[in-house]
Amino acid sequence: MKQFSLISASLLAWYDRCARTMPWRGIHDPYRTWVSEAMLQQTRVDTVLPYYERFLQRFPALPDLAASDEADVLKQWEGLGYYSRARNLLKGARQVMEQFGGQLPSEPALLRKISGIGPYTAGAIASIAYDVRVPAVDGNVLRVFSRLCGIRENIGLPEVRKKLESLAAAAVPEKRPGDYNQAVMDLGATVCVPGTPDCTRCPLSSFCDAFAHGDAESLPIMPVSRPPKAVRWSVPVIISGGRTLVRCRTESLLRGMWSFPLLDCDPGSVFSFLEKKYRIRAQAAGDPVHARHVFTHLVWEMDVIPAIAEPGLPDPADFRWVTLETLSGLAFPAAMNVPLQAARHILQA
Ligand code: ADE
Repeated sequence: MKQFSLISASLLAWYDRCARTMPWRGIHDPYRTWVSEAMLQQTRVDTVLPYYERFLQRFPALPDLAASDEADVLKQWEGLGYYSRARNLLKGARQVMEQFGGQLPSEPALLRKISGIGPYTAGAIASIAYDVRVPAVDGNVLRVFSRLCGIRENIGLPEVRKKLESLAAAAVPEKRPGDYNQAVMDLGATVCVPGTPDCTRCPLSSFCDAFAHGDAESLPIMPVSRPPKAVRWSVPVIISGGRTLVRCRTESLLRGMWSFPLLDCDPGSVFSFLEKKYRIRAQAAGDPVHARHVFTHLVWEMDVIPAIAEPGLPDPADFRWVTLETLSGLAFPAAMNVPLQAARHILQA
């Protein structure tokens, strides 16, 4: 067993010298911790900073968020990705109003009953906002502990993950558990990084099994990942009398976000498809442009086709013709950047 008390003391001393300054640090506001942790999942700190500030200006406290519309929350989240985080945050805030009198609980088991709060976020909120001695195990923590404790087994295996989680839990100190958890996150993000860790700068190198064995670069052993599956779409950007055709998605991927038509046909037959399926007679209004967007398990390969149709068309089922001004108020995912730019370009002309 490692000397976890020495390890946590060294890490906290390093954190006191080197902690990155972040607006959600040094405060004890569970709502703010929750918002920051939801935003920081799968997302870099630099990307999160402006979103965090804007989100809290718009929804300063939990009741403000709970009373808002999903469309408004998604608009604030626009461009940050993984939009289920935003939908769950809103759902969770409403749940906290109804079930916990508007106050996030401090016990991890209760926190986990709230929509969107899993073991990691429950641990982060309990430790950071309430000083509860619990770990907050994310990918960074698994990497740090696989190197520190020399776990040379595939971290995709449930029993290996459990082992790492119990090591991580045993290492959390009684005092300053929130700072300690954030110190591990900082170490994982800036020193004990994937691939080539900077062991010369690491406050834990003298305790580290992988450093002693010289194999930190090959840890952790990751599960084999499958390449994302490609999906092709024809994406007509149709302009009709100063409006363009868009749709609010109901599919689980990007639900509640807006999109240009995603047609399951090859680009050469897009106009006959539009006429047959939507009764829209349109023609090309510029050269097609290719765009691609990579999701976690999926790649969208899109042929974006500028088009023009006669004015005064009715809204086809599910779709809406919208002006440039309306378009700016709707939340579009980054996957729609190329068609969105094409639409703005034509509508502004
Ligand atoms: N990543 C997730 N939560 C974080 C936090 N509180 N500080 C730094 N990086 C993080």
